Amino acid sequence: MKKILVTGGAGYIGSHTVVELYNSGFEPVIVDNFCNSDKKVLSGIKAITGHEVTLYEGDCTDKAFMQQVFKQETLAGAIHFAAYKAVGESVAQPLKYYQNNIGSLLVLLDCMQAFAVNNLVFSSSCTVYGTPDQLPVTEKSPIKKAESPYGYTKQVAEQIIADMVRSNSGLAAIALRYFNPIGAHPSAKIGELPLGVPNNLVPFVTQTAAGIRKELVVFGNDYNTPDGTNIRDYIHVVDLAKAHVKTLQYLAGKSGFYDVINVGTGTGNSVLEVIASFEKVSGQNLPCRIGNRRPGDVEQVYAAVEKATRELGWQAGYTLEDALRDAWRWQLALAGKEGAR
Ligand code: NAD
Ligand code: UFG
Repeated sequence: MKKILVTGGAGYIGSHTVVELYNSGFEPVIVDNFCNSDKKVLSGIKAITGHEVTLYEGDCTDKAFMQQVFKQETLAGAIHFAAYKAVGESVAQPLKYYQNNIGSLLVLLDCMQAFAVNNLVFSSSCTVYGTPDQLPVTEKSPIKKAESPYGYTKQVAEQIIADMVRSNSGLAAIALRYFNPIGAHPSAKIGELPLGVPNNLVPFVTQTAAGIRKELVVFGNDYNTPDGTNIRDYIHVVDLAKAHVKTLQYLAGKSGFYDVINVGTGTGNSVLEVIASFEKVSGQNLPCRIGNRRPGDVEQVYAAVEKATRELGWQAGYTLEDALRDAWRWQLALAGKEGAR
């Protein structure tokens, strides 16, 4: 079985990807320092897959530690999720973001080169497109000046990987540009664990419906969209996880190769559509009100997904309603088990 290093494999997208790797016959090896995750996710993965996860607890920016992992395991490839991801925090603490998000990538690439591990899937984001000139956004759309240090770490990381591929003909890498990942595993055994008050729409919605938050504030309804609220491309986290497996399979045997691929559904939904859809699938009435615009929000963005279909043979299988139903099930399971963190 091919062993795949999954940095940040205990996190939200990483844990779902670990499940899909097992489902496809890979053997994931997780490296995580649990700075934004909980060890309980490991028992969730075991409950779904029956596998005891191989875990190295430590920091990806620690070169000696990472070298030990590479020495210990014979790896066929790596998926690099480990990063900080709070846009607002990155504005307040840019060094923290550059150190972790860029530092971890540099150490990983160094180890991959030293140990001749040649396949890499990198977690990028549609944030690299900023406010797009055209919709849907294709991979050929220009990269806009980053609006936050977080967004800049994704742009720089893509460039670093492209430079490495150019210099080192062995490396084959793809940066997946995620749109808005939401939902949870349909088993409700793993899902998102936002620390404190969530910034993202769907965790805020589910926590509000669960009575943890008083009301959802819709950030502006005066945008130039059909109902006045922002439009995003919400992708079920299990579909996103499967895209990583397809990407690894696509990279196998390639060398000196770099590309970027959007991962979304191809459909945009407004904030009000998400709320209506959530109320329908959950049977809950969501307390909400219209508030001010949130600074930095892009009016609308959704993916052109033809490249993912053409190159990877991947496309989203779940609907928005599926994702919201699974997010709600996960919220209920969390409340039943331990309450939200
Ligand atoms: P997450 O915070 O749930 O997972 C990240 C994991 O990495 C956590 O388990 C954390 O403990 C770990 N980690 C962070 N720094 C580490 C380090 N130095 N060493 C070891 N472990 C470390 O985040 P997520 O939502 O699963 O995101 C995964 C990746 O996808 C990130 O790179 C993020 O920037 C990117 N991304 C996320 C979204 C989103 O909306 N969730 C959108 C676009 C891109
Ligand atoms: N929103 C509200 N109320 C809330 C939270 C969000 O109305 O309480 C709205 C936002 O204004 C936006 C939409 O819901 O229109 C989605 O907001 P999110 O914060 O869930 O997601 P973003 O599109 O702002 O950003 C997310 C991640 C970024 C990532 C980006 C693209 O947070 O890290 O997707 O992948 F870069």
